[in-house]
Amino acid sequence: MSATQTYKIEVLKASTSKIKEVDFDNLHFGEVFTDHLFECDFKNGEWQNPTIKPYAPFLLDPSAKVFHYGQAIFEGMKAYKDDNDGIWLFRPDENYHRFNHSATRMAMPEVPEEIFMEGLNQLLKLDEAWIQKGKGNTMYIRPFMIATGAGVIANPSDEYKFMILLSPAKSYYSGEVKVLIAEHYSRAANGGIGAAKAAGNYAAQFYPTNLANKAGFQQVIWTDDATHTKLEEAGTMNVFFRINDTLYTAPTSERILDGVTRKSLIDLAKREGINVEVRPVLVSELVEGAKNGSLKEIFGAGTAAVVNPIIGFSYQEVYYELPKLENSVASQLKEKLTNIQHKLAEDTFGWTVKV
Ligand code: COI
Repeated sequence: MSATQTYKIEVLKASTSKIKEVDFDNLHFGEVFTDHLFECDFKNGEWQNPTIKPYAPFLLDPSAKVFHYGQAIFEGMKAYKDDNDGIWLFRPDENYHRFNHSATRMAMPEVPEEIFMEGLNQLLKLDEAWIQKGKGNTMYIRPFMIATGAGVIANPSDEYKFMILLSPAKSYYSGEVKVLIAEHYSRAANGGIGAAKAAGNYAAQFYPTNLANKAGFQQVIWTDDATHTKLEEAGTMNVFFRINDTLYTAPTSERILDGVTRKSLIDLAKREGINVEVRPVLVSELVEGAKNGSLKEIFGAGTAAVVNPIIGFSYQEVYYELPKLENSVASQLKEKLTNIQHKLAEDTFGWTVKV
């Protein structure tokens, strides 16, 4: 198919819906999926057979390269339903472009915009009954691509599958989040794949995060691999620090994911007249700030996590708890952001896109 080709999506509808079995008030993040998924295969050098079909397991050759060499990337996006049943996406172009950056870094083919966007839009419309109205209700969207070509020779696959799953979601973290600051393990290194949304970046965090969990911490804030002195990201979310009245967050780099929520919060905070500095933030500044009281807030920002306060951190085996705040900057920014996403406030940035 040529670059200008219009792809016709085949739609195979499920004979029954699972929606009645779902308790939308008690959703655990990422455990429930809608009736349908979108899929498209890359074979013989082209994307073909874009299809929406009932959600179901599928077969792969045991030697498929995704299993052996980890050629797998994904995105995290959300859709929202307004009070008039309109469905909205938040900055979908950002996710689309980041997806293809990830694909390039992992030697995978780019997905044409038409396949990504049309597949997503048609899937959302088909399963729209699953998108609940009201603040806090969202449809988490998981586009992903895996290498399906068979053979264990260590080179890039020549076949791929691109899929989109939909999962109704409320919050990602269910309680208070305390973090460990990484002192030994690293999430990413210069020249590596830290800025890509590659599956392996998440797998690499599981072991050290398990250790952190056992010690009573929900997440790790990763530091730069070379010196472990600069604060980078939390793996499931970018991080912000408020010292006195200034918000700080690390600049994106080869090691840090260019988060859509992160960049939206920077713009929102600036619009609200909050001083924002994007610069390397040192672990020593955090410790000093916690000791002298100038460190007011830490919070994570991500599509799944939205804006999540971090109530304390541990470094060199000392735990620092932050003061409890009535009207934190995190909660103010979360309110502004989610109001825009749910179409409850004017979107002066032009971030929301109607499905
Ligand atoms: C997202 O926020 O969408 C992510 O991809 C993070 C993931 C760990 C749920």
